[in-house]
Amino acid sequence: MSTTSIRDFIHGIPKAELHLHIEGTFEPELMFEIARRNNIKIKYESVEELKKAYNFDNLQEFLDIYYAGASVLIEEQDFYDMTWAYLEKVHSQNVIHAEIFFDPQTHTDRGIAFSTVINGIDRALKDAQNKLGISSRIIMCFLRHLDEDAAMDTLKVALKYKDLISAVGLDSSEVGHPPSKFQRVFEQAKKEGFLTVAHAGEEGPAEYVWEALNLLKVSRVDHGNRSLDDDKLVQELVNRNMPLTVCPLSNLKLKVVKDLKDHPLKIMLNKGLLVTINSDDPAYFDGYINENYNAVSQALDLSKDDIYELAKNSFEASFLDEKTKKGFIEKVDEYYQNNR
Ligand code: ADE
Ligand code: ZN
Repeated sequence: MSTTSIRDFIHGIPKAELHLHIEGTFEPELMFEIARRNNIKIKYESVEELKKAYNFDNLQEFLDIYYAGASVLIEEQDFYDMTWAYLEKVHSQNVIHAEIFFDPQTHTDRGIAFSTVINGIDRALKDAQNKLGISSRIIMCFLRHLDEDAAMDTLKVALKYKDLISAVGLDSSEVGHPPSKFQRVFEQAKKEGFLTVAHAGEEGPAEYVWEALNLLKVSRVDHGNRSLDDDKLVQELVNRNMPLTVCPLSNLKLKVVKDLKDHPLKIMLNKGLLVTINSDDPAYFDGYINENYNAVSQALDLSKDDIYELAKNSFEASFLDEKTKKGFIEKVDEYYQNNR
């Protein structure tokens, strides 16, 4: 038995992050710097004043501020700088693989070219592979508050960058915008060879998770908290070994849970669900991946064995090829053996 504290154990264990919106990593300090160089006025006077606005009662209140923040991103270098800052940060937290969402419509609807966005993100990811040893995938999300035709147009533009994008996803305002609204575009994306994921059951009902599985044919469910309302659905998720990318601090900040002590993560693990821990939008929710692991393990009294399982799950649920997955899981096993 080693004397490594649970905090140090969390810090050191190799991890993958699978639910991370790159626009949600945009820290206020960098936002002000980029706004200044692009001659854009932010409606808050200072970093401190902006941070005071990071108080949300629900998903929509957060999204309004998140889209406003993203509007200062103009040049390819801006997307590079934001992405690189995230990668350096999580490198220091022992993240060795990251699957990153981006929201092209947030930018193309403001007149920014798709190529500007994806080239900036991709260049940072390639540098991270070369300089930090972090591997990665890109997931392109459709904004569900917009219509399916707009998503279809986005998919068409994305085809030129097919080699850079592993999967398509679905994010933004959930309630009132069920997965069924996007069935055709997901079908088309599948035909083009993309994997699929979708946010479901964050604020929306268990029925939306069923739709994500059966209509969008997802390989992972993002969040999925509300699945626990439906025993049959839980059984289905277990039978399919369907990963859930859970985001504890996001759930707290957006009032999906009142208190982290009420967070369903431990119940999910006990039910045999393939759960992973992720940060969602770390610049807005008070923490990157290790802060999420720390907060939830404190609130739910998780053990080193739980953390080991969660870290292993993060690779198991990734879109890496089987051989690479196995290699990463061996690293987790070795760390566990030396620090348990
Ligand atoms: N976009 C960024 N973060 C999101 C979240 N937690 N849910 C839905 N859409 C999002
Ligand atoms: Zn999310």
